[in-house]
Amino acid sequence: MSERKLKVGVLVSGSGSNLQALIDACAAPDHPAEIVLVLSNRPGVRALDRAEAAGIPAMAIDHKLYADRATFDADMQKALDEAGVEFICLAGFMRLLTPEFVEHWSGRMINIHPSLLPSFKGLNVQQRAIDAGARFSGCTVHYVTPEMDVGPIIQQAVVPIHQNDTGDTLAARILVQEHRIYPASLRWIAERRVRIEGERVFLDGATPPDAALLNPAPEQAD
Ligand code: GAR
Repeated sequence: MSERKLKVGVLVSGSGSNLQALIDACAAPDHPAEIVLVLSNRPGVRALDRAEAAGIPAMAIDHKLYADRATFDADMQKALDEAGVEFICLAGFMRLLTPEFVEHWSGRMINIHPSLLPSFKGLNVQQRAIDAGARFSGCTVHYVTPEMDVGPIIQQAVVPIHQNDTGDTLAARILVQEHRIYPASLRWIAERRVRIEGERVFLDGATPPDAALLNPAPEQAD
């Protein structure tokens, strides 16, 4: 008999394409995690429809109805506890969390961010990477710590920035990679292969890539 699956809660605010990638990955019978609750701070978003279509309990807790972050986070905590959530994935969740909530889930909450952290924390990061003249950007899966977009990094994917990129074209290129690395990182965690040591994360049995990327590409093969 297979071992018990890790019970995951996914926090969303919008379209939920990363949620979809997690749903699709967890649908595999041998996947070691299951999504038991999807929580949105915004009612009516597409992410909630995606959860419902997959038969996953989904709920909106509208942050606009709360006077402060602490009571909003407390209600989220209650819903997560009632669903038996053991681990949280933030998937396009665009709300700051209180230090108390983050501390409670320390080592048990991860986020995906559309830049190569520690560069370009915060918002509008694809356009900011272009404006800064970066030749590469990408995405990062990391543990959540009280400081925004800072925690130990589990996995990153790199994409080139093209000369004619807009924030939207770069975001779309990055999103394709987000959908690869987020489910992969969650699987590793659920398989208990991931270890945090200080600022660094180690993966048992990791395969280190050896290819270097150049942008612009060299004009002839070496
Ligand atoms: C994704 O690009 C995700 O990395 C980003 O929001 C988008 C959500 O898309 N998250 C952040 O910027 C968090 N700092 P999705 O709703 O389609 O998954």
